[in-house]
Amino acid sequence: MNATQEWKEAGLNFRQITPAIGVEVGGADLSKPVGEEQLQAIRKALCEHSLLLFRGQELPPEPHIEFSRRFGPLENHVLKQFCLPEHPEIFIVSNIVENGRHIGAHGGAKLWHSDLSYMEEPSLGSAFYCLECPSEGGETEFASMYAAYDALPEERRRWLDGRRAVHDYNYHYETFLTHRPPLTEEQKAKVPPVSQPCVRTHPETGRQALYLCYALVSHFEGMSPEESRPILKELTEFATQPAFTYRHAWKPGDLVFWDNRSAMHRACPFDEKGSRRLMYRTTIKGDRPFHRPAAAAA
Ligand SMILES: [Fe+2]
Repeated sequence: MNATQEWKEAGLNFRQITPAIGVEVGGADLSKPVGEEQLQAIRKALCEHSLLLFRGQELPPEPHIEFSRRFGPLENHVLKQFCLPEHPEIFIVSNIVENGRHIGAHGGAKLWHSDLSYMEEPSLGSAFYCLECPSEGGETEFASMYAAYDALPEERRRWLDGRRAVHDYNYHYETFLTHRPPLTEEQKAKVPPVSQPCVRTHPETGRQALYLCYALVSHFEGMSPEESRPILKELTEFATQPAFTYRHAWKPGDLVFWDNRSAMHRACPFDEKGSRRLMYRTTIKGDRPFHRPAAAAA
């Protein structure tokens, strides 16, 4: 494995966090408009390294939204009850209960996934900002799906190239999120099952990334769920082995911006009864995943 690298570009300092995934960006103040040259350097690092970490940011909702919008239009989450009322672009992830009600999505992201993979046009990326976090636990783990794809045994790669899988939020909800109230019929109607390529060609780098997970994919096309589940489990475990992952221990003021086209993530457990975690997320709209075989890309 290569050593991590550091470089300077557009007045910013970039330092790789692990060889497989992640770059820490120094010298940026995201509460102010970011110049075009810096934005290009940030976008390039995101596409190539799948995750950017900006520490020590003071980021009210407006500049958080404005910075995110520079990368594309934003999604408003299907769970409207967990969006900031005055800023619906901000999706609240929190265990905090106020007036007997959860103020944000809670306990739902502990399985590896790529945000909104169950939509026809899933998210390009997510910008996740920490306002409060527990002193222990509550980290987020990230996995490079570029690294996973590159390391797949040749036979498995051939099996996956051109194959499609069905991502199904309703299946996910009814299988894994049984602690939450069921989706309403209106919410279900917005998230019908969607077929996605198992190997996704990144539209900006042209690199191949594995694009599936155990939590949201109900089955491979042309196969039963019973046949599919063990393979999905094996591939998810393969993709998330330590060499391909980074675990981020949050501090208030951290903004982590990840590329959903080449990374998966999951939340780590923490003492949900005895501590508070409050995170704001913006989600940038992406385009329809596609697979372009390597030979065609050359
Ligand atoms: Fe997520």
